[in-house]
Amino acid sequence: MNDLEMYREQLALCDDKIIDALLERNAIIEKIMAYKEEYGMAILQPAQEAKQERRWQERLRGSKYQEEILDVFERIVRNSKRIQARKLFSYNIVLIGFMGAGKTTISDYLSTMFDMKIVEMDQVIAEKEEMSIPDIFATYGEEYFRDLETKLLIEMQSQKNTVISCGGGAALREENVIEMKKNGRVVLLTASPETVHERVKDSDDRPVLGKNKSVERIAELMEKRREKYEAAADIVVQTDGKSILQICEELIKKLLEMDE
Ligand code: S3P
Repeated sequence: MNDLEMYREQLALCDDKIIDALLERNAIIEKIMAYKEEYGMAILQPAQEAKQERRWQERLRGSKYQEEILDVFERIVRNSKRIQARKLFSYNIVLIGFMGAGKTTISDYLSTMFDMKIVEMDQVIAEKEEMSIPDIFATYGEEYFRDLETKLLIEMQSQKNTVISCGGGAALREENVIEMKKNGRVVLLTASPETVHERVKDSDDRPVLGKNKSVERIAELMEKRREKYEAAADIVVQTDGKSILQICEELIKKLLEMDE
């Protein structure tokens, strides 16, 4: 055997070790998940994640491969998150609620923490139509936009493990709710008219509110929609005065309770 063949053999043995270590690591991830679930502990623990990261950095300090190895760890962690998400949710998480209730923020956070795919309905529709939402409303009218929402929700049924952030009006059509539930669980995020006002007052992309974004107008429209939102929801999470992490934890807890 020449040296090159010997090195290749050593490399193959190294790969075997990595595979064994990853298999063991993933099994441990599943055990941690099961433990947290059994004892009703918080599933998301960003502080623990940061601690792990510090540990790798410490361990790799001074190594000439620090950057490359940290890059590998980033992928390992991302895949661990995916394993967690698959174990926890075998369905899509569909976020509904009034404009400014936090759908986009919460879907971003969930998708980061679980490495789940994310579909921001308004964004996908705007990209497909090559037009902003206000322009779609102005050019083709609300009904046309609502039809696009229905079509997209039907398309989403072939997806799994995706966070779908719906436009604020998507859950108002009964037909849409039926489509949402075919492969998803519907989470209603709520916020007070005052909170919504704070969040939307400076944005120009809410044609339904138009120029009149007063608390009274928001409260009135919210009340009009309330019954339909509540009827659509599998679970409800109230967001006022809570941190993103608290909202996500409550959401996860309530989703898991549905399986009990
Ligand atoms: C709408 C909400 C918007 C967008 C469109 C209509 C509504 O989405 O879909 O402007 O009827 O509530 P956000 O809730 O994401 O703002």
